[in-house]
Amino acid sequence: MTNKKVNNHLMIDGCDTIELVRKYGTPLYVISQKKIEYKCKEIRNEFLAKYDNTKALYASKAFLTMSMCKIIEKEGLGLDVVSGGELYTALRADFPREKILFHGNNKSYEELYMAIENKIGRIVVDNLYELELIEKISNKLDEKINILYRVTPGINSDTHKYIITGQKDSKFGIPLEKSVLFHAVEKAIESKRVKLKGFHFHLGSQLFDNSYYIKATDIVINLMRELKERLGYVTKELNTGGGYGISHIKDDNKVSLKYFIKPLMERINQKINEYNLSMPQVMIEPGRWIIAEAGITLYTIGNIKKISGVRTYIAVDGGMTDNLRSSLYGAKYNGDIANKIDDKKVNLVTVAGKCCESGDILIEDLMVPNINPGDILAIYNTGAYNFSMANNYNRNLRPSVVLVKNGKAQIMVERQTYEDLLIGEKLPGIVNCKECSPSKIKGVL
Ligand SMILES: Cc1ncc(COP(=O)(O)O)c(C=O)c1O
Repeated sequence: MTNKKVNNHLMIDGCDTIELVRKYGTPLYVISQKKIEYKCKEIRNEFLAKYDNTKALYASKAFLTMSMCKIIEKEGLGLDVVSGGELYTALRADFPREKILFHGNNKSYEELYMAIENKIGRIVVDNLYELELIEKISNKLDEKINILYRVTPGINSDTHKYIITGQKDSKFGIPLEKSVLFHAVEKAIESKRVKLKGFHFHLGSQLFDNSYYIKATDIVINLMRELKERLGYVTKELNTGGGYGISHIKDDNKVSLKYFIKPLMERINQKINEYNLSMPQVMIEPGRWIIAEAGITLYTIGNIKKISGVRTYIAVDGGMTDNLRSSLYGAKYNGDIANKIDDKKVNLVTVAGKCCESGDILIEDLMVPNINPGDILAIYNTGAYNFSMANNYNRNLRPSVVLVKNGKAQIMVERQTYEDLLIGEKLPGIVNCKECSPSKIKGVL
């Protein structure tokens, strides 16, 4: 699905981006519901319908709001959450609890309490300290809970070091050393409060090579074989994580879901048969792959700074506050001038944010037509890890999120106001602040 163009304007899901800017202002996240639905349909066709006993979850860290929970529920997927805040959002959206799976390498007592008290489907246990907390809470609540163990298969996948997770030197998961892992499995088997359903691995994010999944599968199915032989333990579920890459720029590979799923499922079947094991339920949990391409961010261009013989900066009214990925790990994006979408591209520019960091650069080299302050820049494929990583650095306001479908736009999240920035702030007795009243400040949002 590509974004269409009408009257020299960029369109998204039937909506004119310039009309959206007029109505909702900039910076603005725009999310296409149709694109999310299209991706979920591909998951149903290429995974759930093709293979028996499979489950797909959406990794909500990529982008989560209550309305996103509703879309995911409607599309028939489960939800992976990774914090009390994500869990709370899912519960408030009334997401089916049995379809929620809880990740995290350092879940707190309170977070685990919320999960167990609300009877969610699975907790993916990262370490034995967490198992102890779960036992304590389950005893107190007189509950039982299904768990998976997250294991680190020791695979160095080819992505930025900040988003690799499956390597041996990782803060996530239980190492695959037999003394550690077998002990953990024995403890779970002995427990009266947890039911160990199986294992989970996640190798990293923005991966383009399916061979990593195959390697990890071999390792984990070998582990399943050893556990059966040595402890008589039968693995019922195997969660293979997310991480499928999407193309942010022209040079990125374009890979389909099938490219990951088909060889993965073939290998699982082959190894399960070879070792004479029973087939576990196989799960996937992509985040970026579902939501990244559904999102664009719209900005108003302000200052245009030409440095002779060096480069031209175009500054926009957002930056690392609404898209942290560029400055955090050099993520690359592509964009267009949304109100001059058909104009010939004749200038090479660098897109700078408005934050007080020289590293606040959204796109290093972008070809654009002749532009002026006030033109609208659209950056593509910003649906994943942009809104969810948004922050208030420099006390910039978080943009609003608009959901579009078939020419209709609706607010998903309101733009923050300056008053929102002060929520939770107190004035301790050391200062006398009778003057701190919004009514005395002119021109605020
Ligand atoms: C455990 C786990 N599952 C799934 C994901 C989703 O990854 P992606 O958005 O790359 O699909 C992540 C991302 O960090 C993760 O840590």
